[in-house]
Amino acid sequence: MSGQAPFGVRIAGTGSAVPSKVLANTDLEQMIDTSSEWIVKRTGIHQRHILDQEKGETTLDIERRAITAALDAAGMTGSDLDLLIVASLTSEMRCPSNACRLIEAIGAQPAGAFDLNAACCGFVYSLNIADSLIRSGRHRAIGIVGCDTLSRYIDYTERTVSILFGDAAGAAVVVRDDEHPERGCIYQKIEADGRGWESLYMPRREEDVPPGAPESDVRMGYLRMNGREVYKFAVSKFQYVIEDALEQTGLKVDDIAQFVCHQSNIRIIESAKEKIGLPDDKVYINIDKYGNSSAGSVALCLDELMQQGRINPGDKVVFVAFGAGMTWSSSVWQV
Ligand code: ACO
Repeated sequence: MSGQAPFGVRIAGTGSAVPSKVLANTDLEQMIDTSSEWIVKRTGIHQRHILDQEKGETTLDIERRAITAALDAAGMTGSDLDLLIVASLTSEMRCPSNACRLIEAIGAQPAGAFDLNAACCGFVYSLNIADSLIRSGRHRAIGIVGCDTLSRYIDYTERTVSILFGDAAGAAVVVRDDEHPERGCIYQKIEADGRGWESLYMPRREEDVPPGAPESDVRMGYLRMNGREVYKFAVSKFQYVIEDALEQTGLKVDDIAQFVCHQSNIRIIESAKEKIGLPDDKVYINIDKYGNSSAGSVALCLDELMQQGRINPGDKVVFVAFGAGMTWSSSVWQV
């Protein structure tokens, strides 16, 4: 390891994958007391993709498709990776991690592998960690997968959460760049506050339900959410993380090519856009097609932006997410 010369970090390739099955608002109208009009107005979502479990589609499948596409885009193979991070709260099992199974699936072993649970912030947390590990000089090429398949934990007889979430995986391969020290993460924030965790949680047993929690129609083992509390948290944190990132870097909105934001609810995104003055063409939206895919969301947006040629070398990009925990994170990159 030279360790002498400064080096940068480059996003060498991205990929994404969604399951084949589409759950449209009109399908939900048949399942719960709701209307497509209400869902579109309150969330901006028209449809979402969910695992077709009858066909045996799995979380691992879409993760493998996403990281394989990212490696292809980078012109690399699994054996080029020295670490794989899977950001997810919906890995197949508690043990082993999906990351360990994925390095086997893509022929990356022996490589470091671990799952990271930071809910919807998982991909942005992982981007920050990958950049830091590469800058430490200890790693050269890290695969990151952001994926959630919350459809496995949604009680589709209940209407508050079932309308919001979809399944998706996105991936990026980040590598050391010896030629361009200016590239990589120029500012990052990883934060959380455990107070208020009960606004969004997945109890496994009665004992997990906090004292005084409101009665819930959601079955045990499935995702519970206090929509209004999460909404308030998300609107304020969204604005805070973007303003903090701009202030700390001295960058202006005009300097940023794209704000790649967690797709939680169109109204949350619109509120931040309005308060900070972000133009439409700098805030990518795909929640209409995929819903909120938790840790998959930012990764999926990044891949679609790359595919569309809307993020290019030299661009400055701000990644932003917030989620259960409660967690929030930003990552400012010179791509
Ligand atoms: N269809 C029709 N009516 C509904 C539905 C539904 N699916 N759900 C609730 N309603 C009704 C309620 O019963 C209520 O009726 P009432 O006025 O007669 O009591 C009315 O609609 C309004 O309910 P609210 O809960 O106040 O609706 P709100 O405008 O807050 O929208 C929503 C609900 C969309 C869930 C919103 O609170 C939200 O988006 N919150 C943030 C959710 C989120 O982003 N979560 C994840 C972020 S973090 C992460 O990604 C892990």
